Amino acid sequence: MCGIVGYVGEKSAEQVVVEGLRRLEYRGYDSAGVALVHEGAIVGDKRAGKLANLDKALAETPLPATTTGIGHTRWATHGAPNDVNAHPHRGPESRVAVVHNGIIENFVALRKELEQDGHTMVSETDTEVTAHLLERAVLGGADLTSAMQQLCSRLDGAFTLVAVDAADPARVVAARRNSPLVVGRGEGENFVASDVAAFIEHTRDAVELGQDQVVTITADDITVTDFDGSPSKGLEYHVDWDLSAAEKDGFDWFMRKEIFEQPRAVRDSLLGRHDDNGRLQLDELRMSESELRNVDKIVITACGTAFYAGLVAKYAIEHWTRIPCEVELAHEFRYRDPILTRDTLVVAISQSGETADTLMAIRHAREQRSKVLAICNTNGSTIPRESDAVIYTHAGPEIGVASTKGFMTQLIACYLLGLYLAQVRDTKYAEEIATVVDELQSMPENIQQMLDNADQVYDLARSLEGARSVLFLGRHAGFPVALEGALKLKELAYIHAEGFAAGELKHGPIALIEQDMPVFCIVPPPGRDFLHDKMISGIQEIRARGARTIVVAEEGDDAVEPYADVLIRIPRSSTLLQPLAAVVPLQLFACELATVKGHDVDQPRNLAKSVTVE
Ligand code: G6P
Repeated sequence: MCGIVGYVGEKSAEQVVVEGLRRLEYRGYDSAGVALVHEGAIVGDKRAGKLANLDKALAETPLPATTTGIGHTRWATHGAPNDVNAHPHRGPESRVAVVHNGIIENFVALRKELEQDGHTMVSETDTEVTAHLLERAVLGGADLTSAMQQLCSRLDGAFTLVAVDAADPARVVAARRNSPLVVGRGEGENFVASDVAAFIEHTRDAVELGQDQVVTITADDITVTDFDGSPSKGLEYHVDWDLSAAEKDGFDWFMRKEIFEQPRAVRDSLLGRHDDNGRLQLDELRMSESELRNVDKIVITACGTAFYAGLVAKYAIEHWTRIPCEVELAHEFRYRDPILTRDTLVVAISQSGETADTLMAIRHAREQRSKVLAICNTNGSTIPRESDAVIYTHAGPEIGVASTKGFMTQLIACYLLGLYLAQVRDTKYAEEIATVVDELQSMPENIQQMLDNADQVYDLARSLEGARSVLFLGRHAGFPVALEGALKLKELAYIHAEGFAAGELKHGPIALIEQDMPVFCIVPPPGRDFLHDKMISGIQEIRARGARTIVVAEEGDDAVEPYADVLIRIPRSSTLLQPLAAVVPLQLFACELATVKGHDVDQPRNLAKSVTVE
């Protein structure tokens, strides 16, 4: 949610900043802008719409060559996404320019105070007050670093700010509270950004900043302080992926590339997590076996796709461990006074590790003294940093706004967690656990098989270009898969889509069925508690009412054939692990349908990948 970049060095700041914004555009794409320091003045441009609009403006009216600058790509919160509200924002005398990610909650009071002092705001944003306050401090004699410290101590809410001073071309100053900021350490150049992707082509050495810190970068130096000015330090780390991971590799969309990366992502996420006998070792977990033995309830909390991964996890964790497991949307969780004790394990699932709703939920849980375990794909992000324990997924950077390999690896992490708890608590025999681990090992092949069959799904998507509504049905662990399939379609193709538990159909949703309505049916493997047979009855019921059934069923399941208008085969697996393969055609379907409809698959309207506001 909003991407920000700052640069000081020897290269063209405009190029570095704009390229950085290009890699952060997944965070927001309502408008974009840059501000550079040139001969004692701020120069820049900012445009509503995608970065391409800014590119065009900069090509038509080039900015002077400079080596210090900042930039922003916006997901609007306060004020419409127009040129005026686009960042950077400047002080009244254009002495400073500021970009911001987050929400300044007390901006109304600050704005009033400034207006009473004769300041005039030109935008509707909460950000502009920060530029005015910063400039006031700088004009009062403070250097940009101290001015930023003073400013931050006056702000409430969540923010990452990055600023430049026209009279101080050698430095860029940034600050963070509850919003992401990472520093890139180069040679003779340094960077600040929302995410390492912005500078990965220049350096893989990064510095993670803590809460309430201010960082000053010059070409040769990085200095970190707290908001009160006392010296502090960031945590140095090396990024374990490179530029190629942040590029499309010949695919039309990042999302499609990420779907096709899933076999590799699953393999990487399983790597080093078990020995040859299938005994699990989660070394990074940071929680002792005795703590895990004491857990008497698990609450999984997350948003969006990560929430659906949590719903799948519930089936597996309860089955393997017999620990009661609740799954709750993070933004609902903390407002209902949930029952949390020291023996509750709260599992927060977040690809980005920055989702504000999930972050606030874990803070609430920790205040109640519950232990929090994060399942996260982003090293050094806020959620794992504020958790007691973490399992990192190894999906690599996910750029497409709609999560795919993120979801897949979240499932893997959830399965590992469930099995590990079963191992520690002896609720499953070692051989049983080893059997599931073996099955997990074969999943990259199963997923690959689904990808090899992509053309069938693409043809189907093309044939349904005119569909107004698509339903998804599933049972057991297939129910969250149905929800995820529907979410993908809403996000990308902008058509009405709903996921239902197939058993619920007859209690209401069946009224939606009309002639030729496409309905995806995720069929559980035969043999489990008659689920399979009940699912088939459900399919017959909707088909009798005119639905066009698209049946996702495992190889060898002949019973489904008479009721399938389209039959998509998935490799055989246990019911609990079936989601790993079953979700793939749904991802491919949404991606292709959105493509044929001419939508921007990587940057769907109104969405942002990382939602850092509540
Ligand atoms: C946003 C994205 C979703 C994502 C959700 C949770 O809404 O558009 O694709 O699933 O955030 O993100 P997280 O990073 O916490 O997994």
